[in-house]
Amino acid sequence: MDAKRAAAERAVEWLEDGMTVGLGTGSTVYHFIQAVGRKVADGLTIKAVATSVRSEQLARQLGIPMISFSDVEDIDVTIDGADEVDPEWNLIKGGGGALLREKIVADASKRLIVIIDESKLVRHLGQFPLPVEVVPFAFELTQRKLRQLGCELRMRMAADAQPYRTDNGNFTMDCEFGPIEQPGLLADALHRIPGVVEHGLFIGMAAQVIVGRSDGTVDVLDRPRP
Ligand code: 5RP
Repeated sequence: MDAKRAAAERAVEWLEDGMTVGLGTGSTVYHFIQAVGRKVADGLTIKAVATSVRSEQLARQLGIPMISFSDVEDIDVTIDGADEVDPEWNLIKGGGGALLREKIVADASKRLIVIIDESKLVRHLGQFPLPVEVVPFAFELTQRKLRQLGCELRMRMAADAQPYRTDNGNFTMDCEFGPIEQPGLLADALHRIPGVVEHGLFIGMAAQVIVGRSDGTVDVLDRPRP
């Protein structure tokens, strides 16, 4: 079985009747939403909120009951993918362009479970370019400030050769910092740039990581001790 799918299908074990569930975004989460759809068809009673228009549409097609954020008090568990996971379980997310909603949903969740294939486990974050969501207004100035933090960046483009727009109407800068030795400090520095809406560093947010391997086996890893 595909490694991403193996991790995704294991994650449904964390769902229980009555839960409000956050649905992440990406190709791994695609398999998770499919598996949730099957569980719902078999009688599981959950409500879900989605981190992207894409995930929401897929969930609705599969008959998963969706609720609006204005009706959400607590999210019991969110299942989402990641682009990189370091040994302290800091994450880079946003390869799929949904990092802002993903971070809002993860922050509102009692538990964030990350589903990945083994290639996403890294010693240091930074081989994957860090996505940063910026407002279109004066984005050139924001790009300059980002470069001053020591990265090379490119603006993410859509298939029509126009800047890629997030579900929130913003731009995404993919920033190559090289190995990120102190992700927490970089996260703080990024937040100090006014045009930055959010960045893809998820520091200390994951509670569990489910790793699918190419032979179809799955490891469920608990949070490392600080
Ligand atoms: C989307 C994300 C995804 O979770 C991340 O890019 C991993 O994607 P995939 O499961 O397709 O490898 O952060 O914004």
